Amino acid sequence: MSENWSLPSLKDAKQRRRTEVQFIRKEFELDETYRELGKHRRYIIHTYGCQANERDSETIAGLLEAMGFTSTQHDEKADIILLNTCTIRENAVNKVYGQIGNLKQLKQRNPELLIGICGCMTQEEVVVNKILETYHQVDLIFGTHNIHRLPELVHQTMFTKERTVEVFSKEGDIIENLPAHRFGNYKAWINIMYGCDKFCTYCIVPFTRGKERSRLMEDILSEVNEVLEDGYQEITLLGQNVNAYGKDLKMDDGFADLLEAVALSGIPRIRFTTSHPWDFSEKMFNVIAKYDNIMPFIHLPLQSGNNDILKLMGRRYTIEEYTEIFMKLKSLIPNCSFSTDIIVGFPNESDEQFNDTLKAMDLFQFDNAYTFIFSAREGTPAAKMEDSISMETKKERLRILNDKARHYAYQNNLAYQDKVVKVLVDGLSKKDKSVYSGYTETQKLVNFTGDNIVEGEIIEVKITEPKSYFLLGKAL
Ligand code: 5AD
Ligand code: SF4
Repeated sequence: MSENWSLPSLKDAKQRRRTEVQFIRKEFELDETYRELGKHRRYIIHTYGCQANERDSETIAGLLEAMGFTSTQHDEKADIILLNTCTIRENAVNKVYGQIGNLKQLKQRNPELLIGICGCMTQEEVVVNKILETYHQVDLIFGTHNIHRLPELVHQTMFTKERTVEVFSKEGDIIENLPAHRFGNYKAWINIMYGCDKFCTYCIVPFTRGKERSRLMEDILSEVNEVLEDGYQEITLLGQNVNAYGKDLKMDDGFADLLEAVALSGIPRIRFTTSHPWDFSEKMFNVIAKYDNIMPFIHLPLQSGNNDILKLMGRRYTIEEYTEIFMKLKSLIPNCSFSTDIIVGFPNESDEQFNDTLKAMDLFQFDNAYTFIFSAREGTPAAKMEDSISMETKKERLRILNDKARHYAYQNNLAYQDKVVKVLVDGLSKKDKSVYSGYTETQKLVNFTGDNIVEGEIIEVKITEPKSYFLLGKAL
């Protein structure tokens, strides 16, 4: 093992230390050594997984650009290729291994190419060991807590021509003022907290992202004001569990207060994700209902409709408690749309227990459901549970669940027929260049036609034909 290496440890990552989180708030200044490193060189980042990774990639891009790199859309033209990875389920991981494999040829053709792997996968010992043993084309591995160290790590890799591995398992400090290249022109992601302390028994995130750490409210608000001044129309406040915002800072009702302050900033559209049903407060309900610029759309992961499974999952709520929160939101926020996450095939889930999930689908009639087959993640408690359910049964359950999800998505969309909705124009649709696309306040994708459409504006669109997962319309 190289003495420069710092390898991940799941054992360390499990621990929640009492040491206070440091807030590093000094202005960003790149050391002179790194300023010319990217001159005449190009970078590309491939991002997998959730919005936290998307936002991290924006920081990575910002750092690379501060070093003089410019971006390219083509692997063949890049001098540095970074894969920002996700480890939430096995299929996400396999996708990345496939991609690393594909890059081998490029590396053979261009030995100067620097290939780096970062993100949640690199926080896992098994992954790092596998990459080190099997994928010799990889030059640089760094973790989710090491992003701010990128300039030094790239420098070290380029000049020593040796592999660099730096993955801290201890949760990181909060480092403000890192540069970012935002990928959206009208919609911005804003982190409000990092990490997760919920430890749902199936989930690897508390290990890969560390303990819950909230950013200071003034730092979040100054980022909100910055994007507002830059003409952004929509922000999404990000955290694994946004409702817990501020708990670690000893705030009483941190998320409600933050959300209210953000609403008062005047940004036209505010979204937030992800909410955990456990941490809702009265004040949160009221703030969400009170402000028109807080969008009527809530992602509220249910995971299962059966209380015994919810308990085994460590979700800390019952179906009755979830129902109470859901119904309250529904009654307080007219036209609110809801999406959810559901896992089928948790170890030993019986047919009856799965049926409870189907019943819950009938009760909540979600606008959108993200559905997954349970995937055992090494180091999590659920991965150690014996499981008697076959993959065939799990796949069949997923199919049944998806049919139901599609049915309710369509039923909900039918209510939009002939309605006029406000849409933030994203631009021409990626799939069909003859139409524009954008999202309603309720987070429905609309493909529409019209004249003089301007990207980034919020316009009125009349819905002409609802589909299961999008709406067709005509701009007014
Ligand atoms: N297996 C399947 N799905 C999972 N999720 C998280 N961990 C797992 C796992 N081990 C799902 C949950 C979560 C979403 C982001 O991913 O539904 O809410
Ligand atoms: Fe994972 Fe549960 Fe935390 Fe979500 S709340 S990131 S599912 S541990």
